[in-house]
Order: sequence, then structure tokens, then C-alpha cells
Amino acid sequence: RTYKVAVLVGSLRQDSHTRKLAKAMIAEAPANIDASIVEIGDLPLYNEDLETDTPPAAWTRMREQIGAADAVLFVTPEYNRSVPGALKNAIDVGSRPWGEAVFNGKPAAVVAASPGAVGAFGANHHLRQSLVFFDMPVMGQPEAYIGNLFGLFDETGAVASDETRAFLRTIMDAFANWIERTALPASEG
Ligand code: FNR
Repeated sequence: RTYKVAVLVGSLRQDSHTRKLAKAMIAEAPANIDASIVEIGDLPLYNEDLETDTPPAAWTRMREQIGAADAVLFVTPEYNRSVPGALKNAIDVGSRPWGEAVFNGKPAAVVAASPGAVGAFGANHHLRQSLVFFDMPVMGQPEAYIGNLFGLFDETGAVASDETRAFLRTIMDAFANWIERTALPASEG
């Protein structure tokens, strides 16, 4: 079985290093993983007043894309020792309408990155708190607190070292195994 993976990136910046990291991880994924980035930058801030028969188009678009995925990969920087607001907003949008959270029960992995040495541990674990609520099996190992984010890429935006590429491949191989073990049964159609 091939698994569809929705990749959510926590930085909205055009030249985001986190986005480059996400793309590099997609490139290292094994053949049975069909991963692509789901955009979250255009989602209006979650507001229950907008939860009508015609919610914002971007909400519906994101809900459908994540709904069609078998698993979710979060790749995020840390903002103030926590999850960037844009990513938390995407989680909130995907969590509603009540009882229809698109995340429910889907395998997940969290990769957090920082230009500093500490590696965004705070963002990684705050994010896990929400995922537990959706009963998502979140991969525990290998942990990914990636430091020195700005030093990972060459001027073309590609990963500069074989060692980093190998680490990213290790994470994606482990996530593929994790998805095989924990995925929900394939839905019909
Ligand atoms: C940051 N940054 C940051 N870094 C970190 O390691 N821990 C932190 O708590 C914070 N806090 C923080 C707050 C805000 C509002 C901003 C804008 C930034 C720095 C952050 O890691 C840096 O901006 C990264 O470059 C984000 O990755 P992109 O945008 O290159 O993908």
C-alpha cells in the first residue's frame, strides 16, 4: 500500500529554511510514501462565527487535503519556545467542526528545527500535546530536534552534507515503518 502524507510547515516565510528542510525530507522518503506540503499560510484565523455552511474556502481546501492523507508530518521552527501561531491555527482549523477533526487517529511525526543549538525541543513537545488529543500515534524515535538550521543548506537550497541527508532518510524510513504499523484501514473510494 502507498501512503499519502500531508506535510505541514510551521514557517510561512518565502525563503524558509524549515520549508527547505521539509522538501529535503520529502525527497528522502521511501517509494511507498507519497508526501506533499499542504499550505497553511492563507487560512483565516480560526473563528467559530465563520463555521457556517460555507466556511472560508481555504479552510475547506486544507481540511480536504489532510482528510485525504493517511498520515501527517509536521516540520516546524520554534517561536517563543512553542508552536508558531500559524501552525497552531492550522491545527485548530483542522480540528473542527466538532467530531470531524481531520487529524483523528492518523500517524504523525514531528520534526522541529532551530538556527540555535537547542533544536526547538519546546515546539516539538508542545505540538505533541495537541496530537495526543486527536489520538494520533506520534512517532517517538528517532527524535528530531534539528539545530544549526541555517547551516544545513547550500546556496541552491539543497542539503549541503551527506550526513544530514542520511539523517533525514533515517527519519523518513522510520516514519514509513511507523505508518505501516499504525495507519488506519484504507478508506473505500
Ligand atoms: C523565533 N525564533 C526562535 N528560535 C528558537 O530556537 N526558539 C525560539 O523560541 C524562537 N522564537 C522565535 C519567535 C519568533 C516570533 C520568531 C520570528 C522567531 C527563531 C526561529 O527559529 C527562526 O526565525 C527560524 O529561522 C525560523 O525558520 P525559517 O523561517 O527559516 O523556516
